[in-house]
Amino acid sequence: MQTAVRKTIKPEKPVPAVRKAASPVLDDSLKLVAAWDKTAVRELAMKDPRVRKMLESIGIDTCCGGGMKLKAAAEAACVKQEKIADAVRRAFAGAEIPEENESVWIKRSDRELILHIVKVYHKYLHENMPQFEIWFNRVIKAHGAHAKELKQVFGFYKSFMADMIPHLRKEEEVIFPAILSGGTTAMELRRLIRELEAEHTNVGNLLKEIGTITFNYRIPVYACPTMQMLYNGLREMDVQTHEHIYLENNILFPRAII
Ligand SMILES: [Fe+2]
Ligand SMILES: [Fe+2]
Repeated sequence: MQTAVRKTIKPEKPVPAVRKAASPVLDDSLKLVAAWDKTAVRELAMKDPRVRKMLESIGIDTCCGGGMKLKAAAEAACVKQEKIADAVRRAFAGAEIPEENESVWIKRSDRELILHIVKVYHKYLHENMPQFEIWFNRVIKAHGAHAKELKQVFGFYKSFMADMIPHLRKEEEVIFPAILSGGTTAMELRRLIRELEAEHTNVGNLLKEIGTITFNYRIPVYACPTMQMLYNGLREMDVQTHEHIYLENNILFPRAII
């Protein structure tokens, strides 16, 4: 088996410039951290789903412990104030907005485009899919009895994950290196790419099912913070997956099988 592409591919030219998203929400969040003995955990968590996720990642329970003061919650989790401030800054550090839209990738090399796809979209899925599964289990435990559609959504989500994980691996370990090395016959490459396109259609249909059942990720009135975070996360994943598949189906793959 060939080495994973993300370890071996180096950019030929810098990727498009990015600018930091203007974020008054970041300033507000840091003020809440500074006043941590007066701030409830949920006040900070609800500022942005990424903040909440970051708080969870450092051990602060933002769901059941949302009503606690941040200082008390942090002390219970043995987390210092500065660590919370760092976590909040890191949450917003990912909020980079490309200055140019995806059409710029038409002019870039295959190597640059593949690096971008792996670094942005594959990384996003590798990092977030397992987290969403954890949140699903938590939300179904809390709301599954009165919200039957949750189990149905989770069923589609599990199918999405089961399809997406080997799909990403196949691209990173087989197809992307084959596109770059040119060591595969045109006929074989075409066959592999047709297979990937069919998989894209499948995952796209699964996202469509999830979007339909959730009324396009509309957060129910009974939703706890974990459920809000889950629905916001699923919406983001839907958008990202559409951009991701757009770049592969419409720019990378057609060029590879000319
Ligand atoms: Fe991909
Ligand atoms: Fe793909």
